[in-house]
Amino acid sequence: GYRLLSQPDKLSPADILPYLRTRVLGQNIHCFDEVDSTQNVAQRLIRDGAPEGTLVLAERQTAGRGRLGRHWHSPKGKGIYMSLVVKPEIPLHLTPHLTLLAAVALNRAIRKVVPEVHPAIKWPNDLLINGKKISGILLESSAENEQLQYIVTGVGISCNLEQSDYPEELNPKATSLMIESGKRIDRARLIAEFLGQLEELYALYYAQGFSPIRTLWEASAATLGQTVRSSDANGNFEGTAVGLNEWGGLILRMADGTERTIYSADTR
Ligand code: BTN
Repeated sequence: GYRLLSQPDKLSPADILPYLRTRVLGQNIHCFDEVDSTQNVAQRLIRDGAPEGTLVLAERQTAGRGRLGRHWHSPKGKGIYMSLVVKPEIPLHLTPHLTLLAAVALNRAIRKVVPEVHPAIKWPNDLLINGKKISGILLESSAENEQLQYIVTGVGISCNLEQSDYPEELNPKATSLMIESGKRIDRARLIAEFLGQLEELYALYYAQGFSPIRTLWEASAATLGQTVRSSDANGNFEGTAVGLNEWGGLILRMADGTERTIYSADTR
């Protein structure tokens, strides 16, 4: 008779649950073949009452988005395109802490599941391998009276893309875990590991504040010691990145010896 030569490689909750060691994050998983953006789906689910920890996954996105209005290239079945609903009880102005926390969690998860690679964090929360981007994080939040209502943590990870899966303009600056490690990536394991790391770091943050997270972030940052270009209403400026301040801003040392902190910038 006939049999399938290969199983379609599509993620389902049943692939992830065996690896999951969290109490909240990822306890409620929705998998889709195709969506515009998992961020939009998560926000719709929140309006319908989705609890904290709800996870949205898609095999493909037609309108994946990144920071600063950029597009996120989301070819079918090759990446992790996920959005996670978190409802932290912190004031809105502390949101940058959670961005940095997510980057540390993802970096730890990747190092565990794909020990062949050594990503570094580019401020605030891109992960690079050999200077090329493999992952990006996008936090979208809603607040009322300075109090956060929810955060949708969007994560895109280039897992099993080959060089030919990238449009020409991305080729010099993007890569995938498979290209860099030489092995196929188990997406389900990586998702579960990320959620585990994230939940642990949230617990650490609630117990001890930002300081231990800052230490972890600085230890895995590619940005420190590098020249960072940024801009404000008065124009462009640049300085050497020397560390994070207590609010998660990046401290730059300027040529004249003064320091200046940036909170969000296109530091490409
Ligand atoms: C960036 O690097 O600027 C952030 C990229 C974030 C991409 C992910 S993919 C899953 C989720 N859905 C989106 O539309 N964007 C995020």
